[in-house]
Amino acid sequence: MATRTLLVTSSVLGENGQSNALANHFQQQVAARGGVEVSHRDVVANALPHLDIEELGAWQTPADERSDAQKALAARSDELLAELRSHDVLVLAVPMYNLGIPSQLKAWFDRVLRAGETFRYTETGPQGLLEGKRAIILAARGGQYAGTEFDSQTPHLKTMLGLMGISDVDVVFAEGLNMGDAQRDSALKEAFQAIDQLVDGL
Ligand SMILES: Cc1cc2nc3c(=O)[nH]c(=O)nc-3n(C[C@H](O)[C@H](O)[C@H](O)COP(=O)(O)O)c2cc1C
Repeated sequence: MATRTLLVTSSVLGENGQSNALANHFQQQVAARGGVEVSHRDVVANALPHLDIEELGAWQTPADERSDAQKALAARSDELLAELRSHDVLVLAVPMYNLGIPSQLKAWFDRVLRAGETFRYTETGPQGLLEGKRAIILAARGGQYAGTEFDSQTPHLKTMLGLMGISDVDVVFAEGLNMGDAQRDSALKEAFQAIDQLVDGL
């Protein structure tokens, strides 16, 4: 059976987005090799609103007691959860904006990080409920942070994925993209090669 991959893109720069270039390269390599199905969710083109008390309240209301408005609000997260559950590999194409992840991607995490659905609290701490999944992060950054204390983005992403039980995570960095043409070109070349190796292993 083909490996099912969910590709989540989150650049606000559309076709000029460098994380989208990494995502496109991933899709091209996968298409060339076969055996992997890719579904694409663009969380900018289909942006979610901020999570608020009405939506939280809908989750906390038993399904058979929800108003029509609460049913619609709960469906928003339920559909994203079903989509995530139905894939084996999660690929996140992630720009760095203001030292963090795009707020549109955070809004997506806010819908899939749901107690009782993708993790639960136990006496020994939270327990992830998604089993057998792996993730690949394709990180595009104007500056250089990988491996330093200033990379606040990678630990945040890994911790959110880990909370759901996804601890097998590979990260491809394309860094220094705003540090001149030579640095950008070599960073993208290295990132494309790293993606090729990961695609070989899918
Ligand atoms: C609003 C905004 C904020 C940014 N903040 C940072 C930052 O904090 N650190 C950094 O290294 N690059 C920053 N950049 C540069 C982006 O990381 C870089 O352009 C990268 O290619 C973004 O991914 P994208 O092209 O897929 O959108 C920022 C870019 C924008 C548009």
